[in-house]
Amino acid sequence: MIIDNYSNINQIIAENSYSSVFLLLDTNTDNHCLDLFIKKSGITDFKKVVVKDGEESKSIDTCEYVWEYLNSNNGDRKSLLINIGGGVVTDLGGFIASTYLRGIDFINVPTTVLCMVDAAFGGKTGINFKSIKNQIGVINKPKGVLIDIDYLETLSKEEYINGFAEIYKHSLITDNVELQFKNLIKFDFREDINEIIHKYSSIKNKVVELDLYESNHRKVLNLGHTIGHAVESYSIISKNMNKLKHGEAIAIGLITELYISHKIHGFDHNEIISIKEELFRHFNKVKFKDIDQKEILKIMSYDKKNYDNAVKYVLLKSIGNPVIDQEVDNELFFKAFEFYND
Ligand SMILES: NC(=O)c1ccc[n+]([C@@H]2O[C@H](COP(=O)([O-])OP(=O)(O)OC[C@H]3O[C@@H](n4cnc5c(N)ncnc54)[C@H](O)[C@@H]3O)[C@@H](O)[C@H]2O)c1
Repeated sequence: MIIDNYSNINQIIAENSYSSVFLLLDTNTDNHCLDLFIKKSGITDFKKVVVKDGEESKSIDTCEYVWEYLNSNNGDRKSLLINIGGGVVTDLGGFIASTYLRGIDFINVPTTVLCMVDAAFGGKTGINFKSIKNQIGVINKPKGVLIDIDYLETLSKEEYINGFAEIYKHSLITDNVELQFKNLIKFDFREDINEIIHKYSSIKNKVVELDLYESNHRKVLNLGHTIGHAVESYSIISKNMNKLKHGEAIAIGLITELYISHKIHGFDHNEIISIKEELFRHFNKVKFKDIDQKEILKIMSYDKKNYDNAVKYVLLKSIGNPVIDQEVDNELFFKAFEFYND
């Protein structure tokens, strides 16, 4: 549920008679977003727990630290956790809340573009395990998601752009012509960000409503993620390349998986070229050597979306026309990287 104003968050708190309110922040959102949250919400009776910013905090050690904090500050089954931050904080906080005392309520207050348009919604919570992204987690929806683009004022340009990849992905899977890629690129990503966030997060919400537990239809949201997640995981452990942000990795996943879509399902080649150009306007090109590609393929074999011992992809026949559970030859995987590197 989207919470569009602060009186609604106060209403949720009043209606549920929570025994205590805990805020989870990372070091940056503690510095940049907490004052705004207090000022706008008027909530002053809370305890806050702050974790280090960055993907490394999506770990079991950080969970232990926060669970300990809740324990020693009288956390109980009627406590509420409010996660204020980007996807790291909402993934982590959602998981901590869902597992603490068999589950307490949580609200997400996303403070990055990526989180406002994607991560804060849909109930996927979790942490990384042994360098594999999101390997441990549960699906559990937040009590609400408060959207306020004023938090984006302090976000770096790099992090702002990081959110675009998921917006592009939503524009590729939606059957709503008005929101498809060709119309998305008419928006100004600064001026129109409020409209973009509301319109494109609704694409995800619609999919999740139909299939919360990803038994089928929800898999379409994984377009770009089979390769993208493996690239992101590889960039964390590899000495060959710099660590990539989630959006950067998903942009790579989109380009390579669209190429595969072209080869298997005849996705329009000219369209791939314009999508590739558009993505390269925002995201730097990364050079992948043969050895990198082989390691990425290895990581994909551990990917949680696999079953029947095969890596499964989401591919596109055309924009708005995704097909799930597709198997792809290794040879085509390497060709897709050739296309990306070209
Ligand atoms: N659960 C899902 O459905 C889902 C979907 C997509 C991505 N994700 C996850 O989301 C994570 C990435 O999220 P992200 O891109 O938001 O990264 P992030 O949470 O790491 O935030 C990016 C950086 O911006 C800082 N920051 C956040 N808000 C700020 C603000 N308003 N002002 C200044 N600095 C601010 C953070 O401290 C961090 O350093 C990944 O772990 C990814 O796996 C989850």
